[in-house]
Amino acid sequence: MRVGLRATHLINRIFTHSVGSASAVRWRTAHIKLLCSSSDESRGSRSSLLRHLTSKIQATGPITVAEYMREVLTNPLMGYYVRNDMLGPDGDFITSPEISQIFGELIGVWIISEWIGAGRPKQLQLVELGPGKGSLAADILRVFTQLHSVIGDASVSLHLVEVSPVLSRIQAQELTRTCSHEVDNTDTPVYCSGETATGLPVSWYRRLEDVPAGFSIFLAHEFFDALPVHKFERTQKGWREVLVDIHPEKPEQLRFVLAPSPTLASSALVQADERRSHVEVCAEGGVLVQQLARRVAEHGGAALIADYGHDGTKTDTLRGFKGHRQHHVLADPGSADLTADVDFRYLRRMAGGGVACMGPLAQRAFLKNMGIDARMQVLLRNCTDASTRKQLINSYALLTDPAQMGERFNFFCLLHHGRLVQPQVLTGLKLEKRSPAQLPVAGFTELSYS
Ligand SMILES: C[S@@+](CC[C@H](N)C(=O)[O-])C[C@H]1O[C@@H](n2cnc3c(N)ncnc32)[C@H](O)[C@@H]1O
Repeated sequence: MRVGLRATHLINRIFTHSVGSASAVRWRTAHIKLLCSSSDESRGSRSSLLRHLTSKIQATGPITVAEYMREVLTNPLMGYYVRNDMLGPDGDFITSPEISQIFGELIGVWIISEWIGAGRPKQLQLVELGPGKGSLAADILRVFTQLHSVIGDASVSLHLVEVSPVLSRIQAQELTRTCSHEVDNTDTPVYCSGETATGLPVSWYRRLEDVPAGFSIFLAHEFFDALPVHKFERTQKGWREVLVDIHPEKPEQLRFVLAPSPTLASSALVQADERRSHVEVCAEGGVLVQQLARRVAEHGGAALIADYGHDGTKTDTLRGFKGHRQHHVLADPGSADLTADVDFRYLRRMAGGGVACMGPLAQRAFLKNMGIDARMQVLLRNCTDASTRKQLINSYALLTDPAQMGERFNFFCLLHHGRLVQPQVLTGLKLEKRSPAQLPVAGFTELSYS
């Protein structure tokens, strides 16, 4: 299909700018970790997290898997994300922006393409949910700098929604040259602010609802999979919720049990026509998607959600990761990442009819549509160092190989309905009047170079 000429122009310009420069072949290696997950301090907080969980269960009974996940990942004092820098080769897992800067560059082109498709609004808010080390935002901002003549005098700002004080400090180091201003007060919507090297304002928030309204492109990369899921199992007596309890013979251990009767969540969250025998429902993700959809419908823009996920087909996907290996979900809570694949069918349903949804589309297809192959060819042509070439090829394979992230990782987006409206062609006897052709949605349709 021959579409996306404008996006290909943008990509060509990025390629031309970066070719042969040191940054074009700077593939990410491990960043220094501020807090090692195996430090004594961290081990202490993990055992206190287990104590906190067991005393909670002793007081009120078994807790839902969603509550367990929320406590383990984001407990304000002891949560895994709150205390750790877990990303990268030396951490517990690695993500696409940490594997290669090409990834962020292509997302940067996607954002500008959507901004052009929306008619180049004067204001562009880039809002990232769960920005990790800030690598994705940094690579996107570099594209914005390279395309400053395209962006013109639009006012661009960066808004980061981050729950982790450790990671927000790393993000500030990565993104802001000027000293960031931190606020301790938890009631203040903006808890940190600063400015990038090129003078763009950056603000940090704990919740999406604190981000100001306005035309925005929202990004959520490996964010929804970190949100708590409820788990349900079909039994002969109907749907029952999976809960977390203390092991009766080993009080230092937790185990999964089934609720003896329906819970509020099992009654409200399982669909009447559900065919699977085990389902995971991320109610928090559903609420967030509703908020994103409302903002896109009211103020314009788009939301790009990229994650491990499925279209309402998978069952038991909750797993733990520690040191790049799978880790039992209930073992040593707080020492490992917990993640559950995103159910995009559920997100589509929760987004409602106020926005258009595209995807899920496999990462391999999305990146190829965005021109990753052409970008690779240029980089390899300009790279003479054998080890850098090897790194380039390995990173490309990690991102696109179907057995690695190529098929398991998916892209999904919410768009303003106006973005997809077919242009009107007005014909008369003597006059044929055409409105400008609608710009196709990059990434979700194949680009052609002409
Ligand atoms: C798996 S990491 C992904 C980081 C980054 N997006 C990447 O792909 O490299 C999840 C990110 O979301 C943040 N996070 C997790 N739960 C959150 C929540 N409820 N609110 C805000 N941020 C959250 C974490 O601190 C972390 O920055």
